[in-house]
Amino acid sequence: MIEIKNLCKNYGDRPAIRNLNFSVKKGEVVGFLGPNGAGKSTTMKIITGYMAPSSGEVRVAGFDVFESPLEVKRRIGYLPETPPVYSDMYVLDYLRFVANLKGVPRERVESAAAGAIEKTGLGDVRKRMIGNLSKGYRQRVGLAQALVSDPEILILDEPTVGLDPKQMAEIRQLIRQLKGQHTIVLSTHILPEVQASCEKVIIINAGQIVAEDSLSGLSKRMSGGGHSVTVKVLRNQDAVAKSLASVGGVLKVRNTGNFIELECDGSETTIEKVAAHVVQSGAGLIELQVQSLALEDIFIKLTSKELTH
Ligand SMILES: Nc1ncnc2c1ncn2[C@@H]1O[C@H](COP(=O)(O)OP(=O)(O)O)[C@@H](O)[C@H]1O
Ligand SMILES: [Mg+2]
Repeated sequence: MIEIKNLCKNYGDRPAIRNLNFSVKKGEVVGFLGPNGAGKSTTMKIITGYMAPSSGEVRVAGFDVFESPLEVKRRIGYLPETPPVYSDMYVLDYLRFVANLKGVPRERVESAAAGAIEKTGLGDVRKRMIGNLSKGYRQRVGLAQALVSDPEILILDEPTVGLDPKQMAEIRQLIRQLKGQHTIVLSTHILPEVQASCEKVIIINAGQIVAEDSLSGLSKRMSGGGHSVTVKVLRNQDAVAKSLASVGGVLKVRNTGNFIELECDGSETTIEKVAAHVVQSGAGLIELQVQSLALEDIFIKLTSKELTH
């Protein structure tokens, strides 16, 4: 549905995105995850035809964005990072206006606006002025304008940014409801957003893709099946921590004072050796907890590199 090849964008001589390649299949819900400044908004502006790339190719539903921008725009509903909502318009009037703008046939404008209002839960405020709404409701209006022409594809740039936790949960719920009806790409700089809504994740850092996989695949692949082991002992914690570093398969040791945290390879033998080592040290093992490395750690690892020129 979306195909991106060798996409580059420089602002002046500063590269914002460098040689991006990825594709999104029909019906997929893809999370475009990366820290602030990674190049998410730039990529989305190019996919939606609002900005030209420096080089590279974007095809949406088979159409080249630059040869057939209207064909592309017709198929995409776009929530930009700053939603294009007019504060002095009423919600319903604004959605009628956008529907007209998007080429919805005149006789279907009314039902299109009503449908978008219904999907985004704006019924109670449809006669209110947008400028008087809370940020959460304004964001819903932004989503409603992306939905109003019932596009095949939704491109949502940080749809929950600036919302409180309750509003965030509501928008995430809404996105989950849209699954299956649209192909969705949403960007975010926070991991829980992707975990809540997406099947596939593309991680971008400093303008480059650093990982692309399903959530579970990513977790497995990037951690190499590694384990994080937490150990609690009654005595000689410092000495035990030091000696654990020499156990084979232990990659990293951190002594927090309250407990010892180990980063281990994926082998169960390593955990067995760690347990035996602590018991033999006579330090009084009272707790040993094993966890697979969390996606959070992987994300931080993948995005801790700065852009170098
Ligand atoms: N209009 C612009 N002019 C110059 N630099 C820009 C412009 N827009 C974005 N940038 C820079 O490009 C990089 C990527 O920005 P952006 O795509 O907005 O990232 P993200 O959406 O992931 O936070 C950043 O370093 C940002 O400062
Ligand atoms: Mg952005």
